Amino acid sequence: MQSVTLHIARGAPALAQLAAAAAVLDADEQARAARFRLDADREAYRAAHVLLRYALSREAAPAPGHWRFRRGAHGRPEIDTAACPDAGALRFNLSHTRGLVCCALTRHQPLGVDAECARALPDAQAIAERFFTPDEAAAIAAAGPPGSDAQALAFRSVWTLKEAYVKAHGLGLAMGLASFGFRLVGAAPARIRLRHAEAAQKDPPAAHWRCLLLHLDGRRCALAAAVPAAGGARFRVLLHGADAEPEVGLAACTPGTVLLPVERVTDAARIP
Ligand SMILES: CC(C)(COP(=O)(O)OP(=O)(O)OC[C@H]1O[C@@H](n2cnc3c(N)ncnc32)[C@H](O)[C@@H]1OP(=O)(O)O)[C@@H](O)C(=O)NCCC(=O)NCCS
Repeated sequence: MQSVTLHIARGAPALAQLAAAAAVLDADEQARAARFRLDADREAYRAAHVLLRYALSREAAPAPGHWRFRRGAHGRPEIDTAACPDAGALRFNLSHTRGLVCCALTRHQPLGVDAECARALPDAQAIAERFFTPDEAAAIAAAGPPGSDAQALAFRSVWTLKEAYVKAHGLGLAMGLASFGFRLVGAAPARIRLRHAEAAQKDPPAAHWRCLLLHLDGRRCALAAAVPAAGGARFRVLLHGADAEPEVGLAACTPGTVLLPVERVTDAARIP
């Protein structure tokens, strides 16, 4: 069974605590952080990259400050295995939005993660009709009246899953958003169904993906991970920060996934 670990830090104190350890970031990360105009975005970037480095160091020998990265063809960051031979087959992806950062780790298989904050989306239906599959657009239209919270939530669930899936492929915008579709079936936790448009040849095929959709204080966080053949996946969620207990719930998952109880990490020796 494929093991996937998702690290999440949310809330101002947790992000500030992580960002305060930004000395572990390399020159490229420091330069990218400096490019953000707004303090909140800069802090989220730093927090996400510090979290990633500590998360990686829980899995393999290099210390948080010793990880080195390179960028793939579409800008996807990966571990520089020449500089970090101890990394083995570790793979990761990260996402940052204001007030919430996360990273997901696994071995051998591609994975992607995305976090979205709650905000009004008056154009949800129009965006879905333009960019998503007809089935996705229909499901969003059926979720509630145009501009309603219910429709925005339905849109964000699909959007977050699609983004995680796009990121798992590492292709960014080069991947057609209507070439694959997600459907949420049943009441929460819903079952996630992934379909590829017939013409689209995806590798690995739809049956080999395991996805998870969480809700966190109104935000959405999605993970898409490939599994070998049609195997299962075990998801472990670690929640960083000693502040107030956030509500974390399973909104939806692919059949064949196991979500272990959410663990809270407040040990200062393990995370800055
Ligand atoms: C980078 C991208 C893949 C996601 O960006 P985003 O959702 O705005 O931001 P996130 O915080 O979730 O993710 C950014 C991180 O993804 C990683 N990333 C960058 N390029 C990537 C790629 N090609 N594939 C996977 N991950 C990538 C990076 O770690 C980046 O963070 P960093 O710059 O701090 O290192 C974006 O450029 C993109 O192409 N998104 C898909 C476009 C789209 O239309 N999505 C809608 C889906 S409904």
